[in-house]
Amino acid sequence: MRQKISDNRTNLMRYEIREIVDVIQKIQELDKDFKVDNENIGDPVAKGWPVPPFLKDLLIEAIKEEGDKVFGYSHSRGWPPARKWVCKYSKRFAPSSDLDYEYVLFTSGLGAAISAIYEMLPHGLRIIQPTPSYPTHASMESFNARDESIGYELDPENKWEPNLADLEEKIKNNQKIVGILVINPNNPTGAVYSKETLEKIIKLAEKYNLFIVADEVYFRMIYNGYTFTHITELAHNRVPLMVMRGVSKDVPWPGGRCGWIEFHNINLDEDYRKYCDAIKKRILLEVCSTSLPQMILEKLYDHPDFDRWIAEYNARLEDNSKNISRILSASPYLKVNQTNGAFYMMPLFKEGVLNNRQTLPIKNHDVKKFIEELTANPNMPLDKRFVYYLLAATGICVVPATSFFSKHYGFRLTTLERNPLKRDEIYTRVEKAIREYAESSR
Ligand SMILES: Cc1ncc(COP(=O)(O)O)c(C=O)c1O
Repeated sequence: MRQKISDNRTNLMRYEIREIVDVIQKIQELDKDFKVDNENIGDPVAKGWPVPPFLKDLLIEAIKEEGDKVFGYSHSRGWPPARKWVCKYSKRFAPSSDLDYEYVLFTSGLGAAISAIYEMLPHGLRIIQPTPSYPTHASMESFNARDESIGYELDPENKWEPNLADLEEKIKNNQKIVGILVINPNNPTGAVYSKETLEKIIKLAEKYNLFIVADEVYFRMIYNGYTFTHITELAHNRVPLMVMRGVSKDVPWPGGRCGWIEFHNINLDEDYRKYCDAIKKRILLEVCSTSLPQMILEKLYDHPDFDRWIAEYNARLEDNSKNISRILSASPYLKVNQTNGAFYMMPLFKEGVLNNRQTLPIKNHDVKKFIEELTANPNMPLDKRFVYYLLAATGICVVPATSFFSKHYGFRLTTLERNPLKRDEIYTRVEKAIREYAESSR
């Protein structure tokens, strides 16, 4: 029988990081010579970062040594030796960790893990999200809850640290909140949280009997003198904790589609254990996650060249962070926080800078018309409007802050450019375009 099969809940899902690619395609159809500087997608490989040669060697070795096995299914929850290695690895940074390999779960990228944890939460229960948030978490959480996401503020006036008073207020006022999401190092802000901050979040979780989800996919990417605090060690035997990690960003191997969830402290709470078991069961239905990366995981991260590789990667990211923030901080219209981890920055527009009359000159007549039509929508957030003009006028593609559920206008950029001259040239143009846009109508 014909029923309504479209679902209004899709309005709760946002992923502008990729949606803007459709706008680029349309512009390229209108202007064949249109060139783009992609500062929107967090894919180091697409930005020309070399894949470490030892990863390629390990892949060839695995195919030769393990034979056709690498092309088959592996265990539905993950290849047991890889899960056991995750436990050993966790202990290296958190000596008190007693993670059981039966509570390590491999997924085809962390994206799949993120979907599963929200899907298996009983309907109506909520995991509070940082705002600005990483859209996959916030979208999947709200899609499953059938309501807007509930966010705690990350404070741009305090180096994007979580506003803990706001977090507690939201928890107190919403009985449905059962968990806190912490993304550290953070996408989209590039912040790295101190031990003190994490300790305070754990204390709140203890006080209100909540579990913590720690997305640590960027945990090896730390610089500017910052260090990474392992929440596993701090939270040991105190609160139920889920840690998410993967190979997408640091190796970098985003196309490997390999992530994992570690369920820590499951013995603290029988109901929490049942929730974890439900996630394990849900993952079984996917039959198995990508086999090959799991089979070389240990050799990859324990490779003698890995530390040198990641140190060089971080040194370059630090240089990008310093130089991009130096260039953009010169703008009287922006508030900029330096990136200290991961590879993102979210400059914000100062209060009142943006309005809906501002423009940038767009050379191609058809592209100009297209952007004017697109931005004529009165409901379009002002930072999205800016991002479209910036794209069409300069070819530089960034993502509006409001697409990360931000209440402030701004934009997120990636700090992945490998050529320092090109990097400086791109961000000098961004700064100039912001000046021109802001001053085109005040
Ligand atoms: C915070 C965070 N978590 C998870 C993911 C998804 O990672 P994966 O490529 O493993 O699906 C990303 C990707 O950008 C991310 O930024």
